[in-house]
Amino acid sequence: MVDRQRPRRSCLAVPGSSPKMIDKARGLPADQVFLDLEDACAPLAKPEARKTIVAALNEGGWGEKVRVVRVNDWTTEWTYRDVVEVVEGAGANLDCIMLPKVQTAEQVHALDILLTQIEKTMGHEVGRIGIEAQIENARGLVNVDAIATASPRIETIIFGPADFMASINMKSLVVGEQPPGYDVGDAYHHILMRILMAARATDVQAIDGPYLQIRDIDGFRRVAGRSAALGFDGKWCLHPGQIDACNEVYSPRQEDYDHAENILDAYEWFTSEAGGKRGAAMLGDEMIDEASRKMALVIAGKGRAAGMRRTNRWTPPEE
Ligand code: GLV
Ligand code: MG
Repeated sequence: MVDRQRPRRSCLAVPGSSPKMIDKARGLPADQVFLDLEDACAPLAKPEARKTIVAALNEGGWGEKVRVVRVNDWTTEWTYRDVVEVVEGAGANLDCIMLPKVQTAEQVHALDILLTQIEKTMGHEVGRIGIEAQIENARGLVNVDAIATASPRIETIIFGPADFMASINMKSLVVGEQPPGYDVGDAYHHILMRILMAARATDVQAIDGPYLQIRDIDGFRRVAGRSAALGFDGKWCLHPGQIDACNEVYSPRQEDYDHAENILDAYEWFTSEAGGKRGAAMLGDEMIDEASRKMALVIAGKGRAAGMRRTNRWTPPEE
């Protein structure tokens, strides 16, 4: 079975038409790289970009990164050729296909069927290649639950704020920021929460999309911090300069990671024979129980996936 929960704090967008940027991406500390055949790739450059992408995947050197290719959406004439060329050419060296502007579960089915046929033809394991579904318009958001459950290949649901804002006529000039004249609450909260619920209900990852002001790292942190606080697993980076901030924002803070590991150790001891078989106990000033353990498991899991190390360790009280 494939690990569908690989770390994706930072998902770096790289135009599939640029061998230079693809080469550079290999050495960058992003958790995921996606080579783009869609909006960052001009129509006239797409046929050549398919070949560039196949060569780059087969050449390797991607380390632990999740390797993804974004194909064009099903309303264009390019999708089938994108999928056939890339997966026939480099299916063994590819983790997921990202499908943009998904509007219905059927669009996910169509990609699933095509992938299955190619995997069978090539003699590859059927179902290994995952699908990342981008929600970029009102229809996609309304159907997001069906989209998230449309195929066991689905690994992530991604918010595409630029296309989404255009699709709903939102009056903002800066992706991720508040529209002018809008000063109550958060214009994006509903969309982010809707995507997050669909993702969590089906155990897939929720990923936030791009922040276009690539030189404004404070702005990036502010917008990323919002989806990270809700529970999103990661965000896109459009520029190498956004990656460090991104990895930091979507990793637990050191003190929270230490605390989570300590809750797990302490709760294991308190519930044991030696610890008095207690289901609720005090850790310092904090009451911990089974629900605390579940919360701690989430933080500890994210910290471990990010390679964090403990800087302090709880030990059972001396009798
Ligand atoms: C990403 O594809 C976006 O439209 O924001
Ligand atoms: Mg888009």
